[in-house]
Amino acid sequence: MAFTIKVNGNSHNLDVDGDTPLLWVLRDVLGMTGTKFGCGMALCGACTVHINGVATRSCQTPIDGIGKSEVTTIEAIGGTVAGAKIQKAWLDHEVAQCGYCQSGQIMSASALLASKPKPTDADIDEAMSGNICRCGTYVRIREAIKLAAQASGKEG
Ligand code: FES
Ligand code: FES
Repeated sequence: MAFTIKVNGNSHNLDVDGDTPLLWVLRDVLGMTGTKFGCGMALCGACTVHINGVATRSCQTPIDGIGKSEVTTIEAIGGTVAGAKIQKAWLDHEVAQCGYCQSGQIMSASALLASKPKPTDADIDEAMSGNICRCGTYVRIREAIKLAAQASGKEG
């Protein structure tokens, strides 16, 4: 079937089955491999993207449900205010270890910071609870989100 989806501000015409997960459209059709496959069952968070700013598991998002929604991926998150702050904090705190989970972590953290510029520990726990890290970078992730939130505060 023919679909047109908007990813990172660009429209893409596709010819795929309607139940094709967004993850595979991004990776295999559009060649955007920053979004990762982990479990395929919405359990690990590796495939997290934003749909209209909301952190969403792309492995369980069929393409026929996207409609006119705006999809944002790790390739463009640095162009958003919250995403730029999160990425800088990630680098400053050297959060990543093997890195496999990190695009999903950054997408969840960016969605959190965009919606709650001053997240509490409980907000962070709730927003990040679905993103698994085999390398156990959770402490640095939390510190980096707080650092990014402080950067938000300084800019008022
Ligand atoms: S690959 Fe989507 S949540 Fe694990
Ligand atoms: S940094 Fe290795 S899985 Fe998270």
